[in-house]
Amino acid sequence: MLVLGIETSCDETGVALFDNERGLLAHALFSQVAMHREYGGVVPELASRDHIRRLIPLLEQALREAQRTRQDIDAIAYTAGPGLAGALLVGAGFAQGLARALNRPALPMHHLEGHLLSPLLSTPAPRFPFVALLVSGGHTQLMLVTAVGDYALLGETVDDAAGEAFDKTAKLLGLPYPGGPQLARLAQQGRAGQFQLPRPLLNSNDLNFSFSGLKTAVALQISRLTETVTDTAQYEQARADLAHAFQEAVTEVLTIKALKALAACQLRRLVVAGGVGANERLRQRLDRVAQQQRLEVFYPELEFCTDNGAMIALAGALRLRAQPELSENGAFVVKPRWPLTEA
Ligand code: KG4
Ligand code: ZN
Repeated sequence: MLVLGIETSCDETGVALFDNERGLLAHALFSQVAMHREYGGVVPELASRDHIRRLIPLLEQALREAQRTRQDIDAIAYTAGPGLAGALLVGAGFAQGLARALNRPALPMHHLEGHLLSPLLSTPAPRFPFVALLVSGGHTQLMLVTAVGDYALLGETVDDAAGEAFDKTAKLLGLPYPGGPQLARLAQQGRAGQFQLPRPLLNSNDLNFSFSGLKTAVALQISRLTETVTDTAQYEQARADLAHAFQEAVTEVLTIKALKALAACQLRRLVVAGGVGANERLRQRLDRVAQQQRLEVFYPELEFCTDNGAMIALAGALRLRAQPELSENGAFVVKPRWPLTEA
């Protein structure tokens, strides 16, 4: 069974071919980051138009890489939500059109399910059940994953997502879009203990997160710095120190809450997914506690942390195996807002 995966929920066009027996055969990706950079964030209309331009060449590229033809495709999985409505519609329309032409099923997939299952593209793959820490630009959630399609929400952010907090804070620090990886790079030059930032909801009795206050705390420190520090080199160092303090605060909260979730579920297996899962400091912290407490932590390959078609093809293949009636033929809907527990 060969599943084509299509991802167009935001600013990455991803196309991939996943074979049930042989695994991932090919994946092709185009990132629109350079196009959106001058606007300081994703411009939805430009994103939709660019997905239209990229999908056919990416499909051809993936087929060539996998040495397959369109006729070899058995099913088409596409991201139906959550995401930008226009961008989702491009992927959904493309997938449905191709499905009709080839007379194959089209499978509407949940973007977060793709992220959640992305570590299963690696070997060794995590076994079920596990706790998943989903940390992307749009979401920050802890989920109990019992099987494919069996997801229970344990906790989530009450305001900004972790990636969003990274991006907004990076912007405050004068870093270009997308800020998360840039902030992480700047933080490497920062010194520990120069700034004290809050650890929001760290000791709350739930598994929720809150990151917007942290961003405000950084904004306050920056305005203080611009008023008091006149020396450029000193200001640059303080900026790096602040980036360091911010990254410490976010990764500490994520680590401690993930541990609490494991304890609450009496599990020892954690899966980290989504763009912030690429953060080295987060991985370092989690790996350290995993070693101390004999836990297992699984991450997707770095290239599958951020949005991609491979995770959607994989999720489609796994869902189809568990739920053959999933396919949708005819009218389709995209769901810009869509809780994973309702997928
Ligand atoms: O999963 P993703 O590609 O998109 C969503 O579904 O939202 O995640 C993108 C997010 C962005 O906020 C980006 O800044 C963040 O992941 N990100 C990082 C790193 N790499 C990507 N944040 C911190 N450190 C990184 N190394
Ligand atoms: Zn994503």
